[in-house]
Amino acid sequence: MRLRFWKKAVFVRPNAQTALAPLPEAFRSLLLSMYDGEPQSGSLGEMHTIDSTTLISPEEGMWIYDLCRELKPKKTAEIGLAYGFSTIYILAALHENGSGNHVAMDPCQSVFHDIGLCQPEKLRMSRAFSLFRRGRPRL
Ligand SMILES: C[S@@+](CC[C@H](N)C(=O)[O-])C[C@H]1O[C@@H](n2cnc3c(N)ncnc32)[C@H](O)[C@@H]1O
Repeated sequence: MRLRFWKKAVFVRPNAQTALAPLPEAFRSLLLSMYDGEPQSGSLGEMHTIDSTTLISPEEGMWIYDLCRELKPKKTAEIGLAYGFSTIYILAALHENGSGNHVAMDPCQSVFHDIGLCQPEKLRMSRAFSLFRRGRPRL
């Protein structure tokens, strides 16, 4: 019980609800569940707890989102996917832009149970996302 209280205290961000309000609902609710520290599904469908330090803040994420909305990039690239926080903000912008593809490179994604890899599928954005575990993507 004590541990559960501690975990909530670490994860819950009162400002997240407000900061993420401009995002499309599916992206917003997935991010809020991650910021709340809810277990996330990996590539085998099993649920995993996520750590409270491997993330970007809602403010940082909305900066990325706004930038991608403004620049309307055809391609975006990210080094280090982890649980997929940045990827979700980028995909939200590409979704709203109606175009663009995002590439992530991460040789250690399996350490994160492929949770980052699975997030685009939950958002029906698999076609706009690729993960390179090794080698160089053609950008
Ligand atoms: C701080 S996390 C990234 C957080 C993520 N961008 C986000 O928005 O939540 C760092 C990531 O870098 C990855 N990484 C470590 N060495 C790497 C390398 N040589 N090339 C690419 N990614 C690497 C790790 O597996 C981890 O997922």
